[in-house]
Order: sequence, then structure tokens, then C-alpha cells
Amino acid sequence: MISLDLDFIRAQFPAFREPSLEGFAHFENAGGSYACGQTIEWLERYYRQTKVQPYYAFAPSKLAGEQMDTAKERMAAWLNVGTDELHFGPSTSQNTFVVAQALRTYLAPGDEVIVTNQDHEANIGAWSRLADDGFVVREWKVDPETAELDPRDLEALLNPRTRVVAFTHCSNVVGSINPVRELTDLVHRAGAWVFVDGVAFCPHGMPDVEALGADLYLFSLYKVYGPHLGAMFLRRDLNARLPNQGHFFNADHPAKRFTPAGPDHAQIAAVNGVMDYMEAVADRHGFGDRPVPAQAAAVRDLFRSHETTLLQPLLDYLSDHPKVRLIGKDHAADRAPTVAFTVDGHRSTDLASRLADLKLGVGVGNFYAYRLVKALGIDTDDGAVRASFLHYTSEAEVGRLIEALDSSL
Ligand SMILES: Cc1ncc(COP(=O)(O)O)c(C=O)c1O
Repeated sequence: MISLDLDFIRAQFPAFREPSLEGFAHFENAGGSYACGQTIEWLERYYRQTKVQPYYAFAPSKLAGEQMDTAKERMAAWLNVGTDELHFGPSTSQNTFVVAQALRTYLAPGDEVIVTNQDHEANIGAWSRLADDGFVVREWKVDPETAELDPRDLEALLNPRTRVVAFTHCSNVVGSINPVRELTDLVHRAGAWVFVDGVAFCPHGMPDVEALGADLYLFSLYKVYGPHLGAMFLRRDLNARLPNQGHFFNADHPAKRFTPAGPDHAQIAAVNGVMDYMEAVADRHGFGDRPVPAQAAAVRDLFRSHETTLLQPLLDYLSDHPKVRLIGKDHAADRAPTVAFTVDGHRSTDLASRLADLKLGVGVGNFYAYRLVKALGIDTDDGAVRASFLHYTSEAEVGRLIEALDSSL
């Protein structure tokens, strides 16, 4: 197994050479990742060379449009989906709201929707509000001890009126990776659509979305080393069946039906930067000549293997500590390196401030997984501390975090 060339990886991220960030260790990646240099270069270049209305005949306009199209094509290929099935909106929360708006007129009286209480509110609230229009909304609940979802509970909720089931690929608090394909097959057998939030999963390696089988799959590029955009895979036939949410005269343009806000052209072009980075990683590690889905799989495995190695000592430290309540599993292979915990006798906000004094940036709060934090019996205002890292994190940084926790608890 080839191991990650961490020096090469870190050299791609200007934040690691930025004097003002010297000595700072970033452990709030689940909130937002550093941008790779390629993303920054694309944004800068777009603003300098092609910051005009795209898709006209004059040269900078034509080039702007071509760059936007290329970005979509490259990312769609990496995700193994059709280019016409990938859409860029302002954020994942906005994307779910647009699709929910379409469901309001598409669903029939008596239709049912299932949401979880493990998700970020972006993949709950948009669908839950359908209850205001008279649709039945059911909640697939986590076990309050383990914070996990049990597929048998979903099976019990599914019925012939179920039209949509929304769940997360990976919770931004629990970190467990849910078995999307297995769940999707279960829901499809019941005749419903599957809407998956991939926001907390994708920074750890963008998946083969086609293989997952979901009908809607969402993630946020500002957490995947890119610009502040929401990426949305919307299955072709779903796009065709749901009512248009764009301008009426664009109803026959699949690319315009579910992105009613004018897109941010520069940021879409800068998705090329994320793809340049992914390809550079593939080349550097000797996968560059494989077909794109195979490159994507190899990069995913590379990231995952590095992250898992760094994660286990942190989980061991937290799960062994008598005062710590670790949320989620203590085995690195079963989860993402998004590690939330509370500590007896310490307010989470105080602990996060103490770590900040030591130049360790962790997150704190409910992370908009409000219903989950509440179900776990944790104060929704103070919440939990969350340390989340990515493939560009070093062993030394994780070591510093463990030492700082040890001196603080
Ligand atoms: C798991 C998860 N889903 C959805 C979202 C919402 O994403 P966006 O900020 O793009 O609306 C977030 C944001 O933190 C998240 O962590």
C-alpha cells in the first residue's frame, strides 16, 4: 500500500506557509477546510482575466463559460455521475431548500417523508417543513447512548406512502460512516427516493456517487479544499419529474431547473482547482494514468489510510479518559476523523478557549446538529468540543492536541 506523501500534500496548501498561521493547528476542518493553492489560483485568475458575464462570443466571456463547463465535467467524472446530474448552488442548505420547494407541489396528500435526528439541520429542516403543507414527516431516531442509527428502525418506518428518506453519509458530530448503499437499496425496495447529505464525508475522499445509488447527494466544496459552493448530484429522472424551480422559460434546461440563484461564476471555475489538486495527488502517488473512477478510488484510500492511522491514538486517549464522553465509535476504521466529546466538570466552550490559547483550533457547540445534541442529553448551547482533521494533518499536530487535552483535563 502506497502511503501519503505528506510533504507534497502540505506544499499544495498555502495556509501551511502563511506566516500569520505559524504554529496554529487546524482542527475545525468539519467546519471548513483550508483551500488548496490551485483553488486560490483559479479564483484569482478568473477575477483578473475573465470577470465578465460568461457564455457570450467575445473572448473573455467564452473562456469564462468554458472554464465553468470544464469544472463541472471534471468533478462529475470524479464522482462518476453524468455532467447533467451535477449542480452548483450557494450552499448545501440552499440546495436542500430548493429541492424541498419542488416537493411541496410534487407530493400528494398523505405522502410521507422520513428524516433522521442524526443529521445536520440542512438535511432535516428543509424536509420537515413539508409537515406545514400537510405531509407526514417521520423521524428515524438515533440510540441516545451510542448516537447511531439502526437500519431496523428505518425498516419499521417505511411504508407504501413513503416518498423520500433523507439521511447522512457521515454525521458531523458522531463521525460514523453510514452504509449508504445498503440503506439506499432498502429504501428503493420500498419505492422511495434517497436524499443523502455527504457534507461531512466528502472532505475525506469524494465518493463514487453512482455506486452509492442515492437520488440526491449533497456536499459543500468549502470543506473539500475549494470555494464556497454547494455541490448537488440530482439524478436525471428526478430532475425531469420534479417541478422546475428556475425561471419559467428555462424549464427545459436541466442545468437551470434547480439552481434558481445566479451561480457564482468565479467559484464554479475555481472547482477546477479542486480537480487540479486531486489529479496532482493521483499523479504524485502513481495513479495518474488510471481511468478517472479508479484514480478517485485510489486517492480516497490514500486519504483514508493516513487519517485512520492518525485517528486511532486520539480515540484511544479520549475513550480511556475517565472524565471524557466520546460521541461515536472508538475504532478509527468505523468512522471519520470528526471527533466530538464532552468532559465532566468542564464546559465545552471553556475547554475550546483553553485549546485556542494553545493555538489549537477546535470547534464547539451543537454544529447545527441541534436535534442530535439534544437527543444525546447534551446542553445545546454549550454543546460538545469537536476536533476534526483531514489528510493534510500531521501526526505531530494530533500529538500536540492529545498533549494539550491531557494538560487541560
Ligand atoms: C454535515 C453537514 N451537512 C450540511 C451542512 C450545511 O452545509 P452548507 O454550509 O453548505 O449549507 C453542514 C455545514 O456545516 C454540515 O456539516
